[in-house]
Amino acid sequence: MSSNKETFGRTLGFVLVICLVCAALVSIAAVGLKPLQQANKLLDKQTKILEASGLLADAGKDIVGTYNKRVEAKMIDLKTGTIIEGDVNAFDERADSRDAAKSTKPSSDIAGLNRRADRAVVYLVKNEQGQLDTIVLPIVGSGLWDLMYGFVGLSPDFNTVQSVVYSDLKETPGLGAEVLNPNWKALWPGKKMFNEQGDIAIKIVKGGAKKGDIHGVDALSGATLTSNGVQRTLHFWLGNEGYGPFIAKFRNGGLN
Ligand SMILES: Cc1cc2nc3c(=O)[nH]c(=O)nc-3n(C[C@H](O)[C@H](O)[C@H](O)COP(=O)(O)O)c2cc1C
Repeated sequence: MSSNKETFGRTLGFVLVICLVCAALVSIAAVGLKPLQQANKLLDKQTKILEASGLLADAGKDIVGTYNKRVEAKMIDLKTGTIIEGDVNAFDERADSRDAAKSTKPSSDIAGLNRRADRAVVYLVKNEQGQLDTIVLPIVGSGLWDLMYGFVGLSPDFNTVQSVVYSDLKETPGLGAEVLNPNWKALWPGKKMFNEQGDIAIKIVKGGAKKGDIHGVDALSGATLTSNGVQRTLHFWLGNEGYGPFIAKFRNGGLN
């Protein structure tokens, strides 16, 4: 039986109050959880950088301590390849690449970026003796469905691959997302990015690379489009519109 106090206005008012309370709770949770989200994002990035430099197993649970001890982040100007001043922690590649004042349209956009941020942060990873062991370079390029973000770890010769580690992608599980499969990642160490003439020679080979091919890595089966994306991404980022000028400046231990 409905009481005569139950009017349309009171019901509407009640619904509005509930909506406002819920909206306030969601906002408080979003604001309150933001620092935690940012901390988790940073930890994830540090984990991937350690993985790209082969230090993840050594680090165990001490990701932050190992990262702080072994990794030095440097901001670079991609056009000149020089190391520049800048807040490496505040740098947001995705925001810069959307800002026309802070990014450039590549003349040869083989990685399908549309715009490329003018600056990048690279990671110099030292061994226990403090010598440069790995240079970890962030990479981004189109896969089948969307941009794929990751890191490539190179030896100080800027030629020998230590790793290709993807961190953020929307490719299909079991197909393109097999770039995350440890078996596929294990094909990379020791491959050479450049040939003897200094040209970028790394290639993803459909049907499988020949034994002893120092530039060839097996394509992912059933995911040729993602595989092509990986090859184009590497060619873009190692080329003149990517890290080419930086590599030319610091090749062969110049960063030590
Ligand atoms: C639902 C669905 C998801 C797919 N996801 C991917 C993918 O993530 N990466 C990819 O390269 N191809 C994907 N493909 C397959 C492509 O459409 C294309 O057939 C394939 O890349 C060709 O590779 P192959 O020559 O190795 O067969 C997908 C296909 C379907 C139907």
